[in-house]
Amino acid sequence: MDNKRNNFTSSIGFIMAAAGSAVGLGNIWRFPYLAAKDGGGLFLVIYIILALTFGFALLTTEIAIGRRTAQGPLTAYGKVHKKWKFLGWLAWIVPVLILPYYCAIGGWVLKYFVVFVSGAGKTAAEDGFFGGYITSEVEPIVWFIIFLIATAIVVLKGVNDGIENVSKILMPILIVLILGISVFSITISKDGVTGLDGLKVYLIPDFTGLTFDKFLVILTDAMGQLFFSISVAMGIMVAYGSYAKKDANLMKSINRIEFFDTLVAMLAGLMIIPAVFVFFGREGMSKGGPGLMFQSLPKVFAEMGGAGTVIGIVFFLTVIFAAVTSSVSVMEAIVSGLMDKFNLSRRVSGLITTLYSLILGVIVCLGYNKLYFEVTLPNGSKGQILDVMDYISNSWLMPLVAFLTCILIGWVVKPDYVIDELVQGDNKFARRRIYKLMIKYIAPIMLFVLLLQSFGIIKL
Ligand code: PHE
Repeated sequence: MDNKRNNFTSSIGFIMAAAGSAVGLGNIWRFPYLAAKDGGGLFLVIYIILALTFGFALLTTEIAIGRRTAQGPLTAYGKVHKKWKFLGWLAWIVPVLILPYYCAIGGWVLKYFVVFVSGAGKTAAEDGFFGGYITSEVEPIVWFIIFLIATAIVVLKGVNDGIENVSKILMPILIVLILGISVFSITISKDGVTGLDGLKVYLIPDFTGLTFDKFLVILTDAMGQLFFSISVAMGIMVAYGSYAKKDANLMKSINRIEFFDTLVAMLAGLMIIPAVFVFFGREGMSKGGPGLMFQSLPKVFAEMGGAGTVIGIVFFLTVIFAAVTSSVSVMEAIVSGLMDKFNLSRRVSGLITTLYSLILGVIVCLGYNKLYFEVTLPNGSKGQILDVMDYISNSWLMPLVAFLTCILIGWVVKPDYVIDELVQGDNKFARRRIYKLMIKYIAPIMLFVLLLQSFGIIKL
């Protein structure tokens, strides 16, 4: 079975695919919001330090597990240690939960793109447009299905023809598009307020009112964001690592993946914060997530006049690219798991995955109308089906999977399990000591704190 396994044909293919997974909705709708909320440059500095230490350790670990075991997530952990098969299941359940609702959100993005292309961007800026849309019964399901099928086509085409090729094309275009909007965003002005003023809010560290408690909030915000952003704890990087060539220099690739992910997050801030600031001031950034993308930003585009339509089109196209390369990776984690565990073909695994996602995704869409109910989540926010699935996967399962992975590698099989894999061939591993320190002590402690916070046991 192992020697039949597909490989990424080149390091750049591997880097683009993994970066494509890492760069997703989170980079665009959450990173800029957190940066604006958490003291601008201060958040950025903390984020970068965490990326080079905590993020690097987690990403390295998963990619190394994948390449060393040559297995998808479902079977990889059991191969690392016989008694840890359960962790494979846990890690595999995460993408299973995420895929349906990620595609439902992908459908919303498609819809907005089409609204802007048809020249109706201004209607999207009206209060109630977003709410009206997601509570409508049929259309969100149609766009969801289109997004899901697009994802499935790429995955069914396989590692090289599908994932690698698509990522190699979409990711460079994505960078160019984001750069274009960023330049525009910095150069706009209204009533004496310019994009550059917004840029200062984003980049200059703001220490006003900084207390120890606030610092802890910034730290956990940055940690939670980073952790989600590099796509760890959901089997994806294990699957992608299993397709990396044995002689590829993983260390170099990992550095580039992280660089790419952080670069896009930073650029997203550059693209969003100055524009929002010019038209709506600091309060304009008070929303992150869907509220920012589907409510605040269309208002910003509407303020831009004619240019707003073009910027809106380019923006939502960028988001589609970011979202598709992520959803493809989520589906691949599930599919590769099924293929390795049950010895199924890619086609059969892909079809099973598409089918269950179709059913669950329709349920998610109906969660805003026919199946509407509201629960209060442990973090105090209210939500329905999508939010519940998001909460279980992101707030509980992911920190748990990452925590257990640290214990498995740091204490059970020992960090050399990963380090040996990285130094295959003549490759060097420069940050060995930081890695050991992170994987044994610091990362598990940080993840444990994140978990306690999610369970509402500690409040920050
Ligand atoms: N890492 C992606 C982001 O930052 C998120 C993602 C979520 C990717 C789920 C894959 C699966 O948006």
